[in-house]
Amino acid sequence: MLKVLMVGDIFGKPGRKAVKELIKTYRNQYELDFVIANGENAAGGNGITREIANELYNAQIDFITMGNHTWDKKEIFQFIDTDKKIIRPANYPPGTPGRGWAIVPLSNELKIGIINLSGRVFLPPLDCPFRVGERIVEEISKETHIIIVDFHAEATSEKIAMGWFMDGKVSAVVGTHTHVQTADERILPYGTGYITDVGMTGPHDSILGVKRDIVIQKFLTQLPARFETAQGVAQLNAILLEIDETTGKTMGLKRIQDYL
Ligand SMILES: [Fe+2]
Ligand SMILES: [Fe+2]
Repeated sequence: MLKVLMVGDIFGKPGRKAVKELIKTYRNQYELDFVIANGENAAGGNGITREIANELYNAQIDFITMGNHTWDKKEIFQFIDTDKKIIRPANYPPGTPGRGWAIVPLSNELKIGIINLSGRVFLPPLDCPFRVGERIVEEISKETHIIIVDFHAEATSEKIAMGWFMDGKVSAVVGTHTHVQTADERILPYGTGYITDVGMTGPHDSILGVKRDIVIQKFLTQLPARFETAQGVAQLNAILLEIDETTGKTMGLKRIQDYL
C-alpha cells in the first residue's frame, strides 16, 4: 500500500514551523512514500519565495501545489518554470508561467501524478477545471494510475462535484483553499478518496491564518486592511491516503489535526 500525505495550505512562519517539526516524524510513524503540501500562503500568507520553497523541501515535503495566491510574491516568476516540484492551477489560460500537473517517479516502477486545479465559484474565472482536469487525467493515465488532485476551490458544491466527476479516474480529490478542515472524508464508489477541504497548517488562534483583530476590524469598518500572520499555537492539517499501487484506488484515508 502506498502512503501519501496531503498537507493543507501552509500559512506563514507558524505553518512552516509545524511542517518542520512534524513531517519528519510522520514520515517514520506512517511510513510515508510521498508528501504533498499546498504552499500558496507559505510566505506570510501570500505566495511563496525560492527560499521558502527550499525550506519546505528541507522539511521533507516532496511536492508543492499552489492556488489563487500563486503570484503574490513576484519572484515566483523567476523559478516556477524551472522548479519541477511545484505546480500552480492547471486551468490558468494557456501560456501562463509554470505547469499545472506533474508526474514524479516514486521508485523504479512506480510513478505518481499530481494535478492542481482551481475552482471558479467565488474565485477568478479561469478555464473550466472539469474539462481541463479530465484532459490531464487522460494524459497522466498513460503512465500511471496513481493520481492526486488538489482542487483549490471555495464552494463546497463545486468541490463535491469534482469529487464525483473524478470518481474512478483518479486516486483522490483533496480540497484546499478554505483553510477549515471538513469532516466528510470518504472513498467514493469507484475508489477515489475525497475530502472537501483538508484544512490549514498555520496559526490556530487566527481567522484563516490572519491576526484576528485585523480581520474583525475589516468586517466592522469595511476599510482596507493589511493582513498579518497570527502568532501562538500552530496547527497542522493533513490527510493520509492509503493507495493500492496496482489499481491506483484509495483503500483508506485518515484526517490529521495536530497542534504544537
Ligand atoms: Fe490558502
Ligand atoms: Fe486559496
